[in-house]
Amino acid sequence: MSKLRIGIIGTGMIARTAHLPGYSAIPDKCEVMAVADVNPDKGKDAAAKFNVAKTFTDYRDLLAMPEIDAVSVATPNALHKQITVDALNAGKHVLCEKPMAMKGEECREMIRAQRESGKLLQIALQWRFGGPIRFMRQYIDNGHMGEIYYARSMALRRREVPGWGVFIDKEKQGGGPLIDIGVHILDLTLYLMGYPKPVSASGVTFQKMGPNPKHYNAWGDYDRSKFTVEDFAVGLIRFENGASITLESSFMGNMEKEFFGCHLFGTDAGALLDLFSDKPITIYSEVQQQLFDMVPQNIPAVKSMYDAEVEAFVDAIVEGKPSPVPGEQGLILNAIFDALYKSSDSGKDEPVDVSV
Ligand SMILES: NC(=O)c1ccc[n+]([C@@H]2O[C@H](COP(=O)([O-])OP(=O)(O)OC[C@H]3O[C@@H](n4cnc5c(N)ncnc54)[C@H](O)[C@@H]3O)[C@@H](O)[C@H]2O)c1
Repeated sequence: MSKLRIGIIGTGMIARTAHLPGYSAIPDKCEVMAVADVNPDKGKDAAAKFNVAKTFTDYRDLLAMPEIDAVSVATPNALHKQITVDALNAGKHVLCEKPMAMKGEECREMIRAQRESGKLLQIALQWRFGGPIRFMRQYIDNGHMGEIYYARSMALRRREVPGWGVFIDKEKQGGGPLIDIGVHILDLTLYLMGYPKPVSASGVTFQKMGPNPKHYNAWGDYDRSKFTVEDFAVGLIRFENGASITLESSFMGNMEKEFFGCHLFGTDAGALLDLFSDKPITIYSEVQQQLFDMVPQNIPAVKSMYDAEVEAFVDAIVEGKPSPVPGEQGLILNAIFDALYKSSDSGKDEPVDVSV
């Protein structure tokens, strides 16, 4: 089969660290034909760095190229919905950055466009492709943990506010740490639990430190008056199968250090995933009434989660396989965030609507 022809929409940080290198790593399978960025200098610079022939400032011109088979959408969150819908309607497969969109309602529109187009839609949640998650998924599938009935899911930063781009702008981003980094940890927790159907969620969001100039930020200063998102969020999510998850996510908070991982509680074993540590997994089990703590020593090494994610996208298209990370799961994540934000305002448990 001939090579898949790719377009990249948005040529900022994630396009340059994940998408462009990911496609470039598999030159026998695909070729990036064009990039589009509203900022012409950024577009031209990315095209020059990655040897891409065409540069556009209007993404619709890129979508009008009949030879392009698939696109990556790597723009700020507020644009994911419209660009993805336009791309699907133009007959292109889409790898859309996380979060899928700012609200569940936008995800529904994207899923409907995907179903009508018959094209593939994948959400860029790369952690699933890393070695620890691949190992854990197999371990769980092989029945070693019994029923996983509860998980603690945490994406916690002590003083790491991303002050660049639009990450602190609620209008353009849809939310703060919950939607930005909580999305990764909630996705992989749900993935390991078999993506149960959520029914309701109760949440509280705080905005206590982000706007205050007295606080140190390890990632450099930013305009504190522009901080309109939450800086800390907590939630309890209930699922149809009786399981539940507590979720914590922060850009700032007074704690020992950042933590990115989850603790799964199964009837036969528990597992602590500390994904920024050099021992990312500890399994807590019991044999003959002896309690064992096990640390796997040869977790499969994955050179780049991003490369693996991009290659999975390309392979799924070429081989006609289902999306490795479907829009329906992106909707579940956004619908949970909708309910958590709503619950924080209402002070009540709120239903999670995952219908399309
Ligand atoms: N998967 C991950 O771990 C990860 C990490 C960082 C960011 N992201 C996601 O990637 C997306 C982009 O984040 P980023 O850090 O690369 O931001 P960025 O600001 O570095 O890049 C965004 C780019 O989009 C361009 N753009 C804006 N409007 C456009 C339009 N209408 N058409 C074409 N281009 C347009 C901007 O000029 C900019 O170059 C966000 O949704 C973010 O959540 C994902």
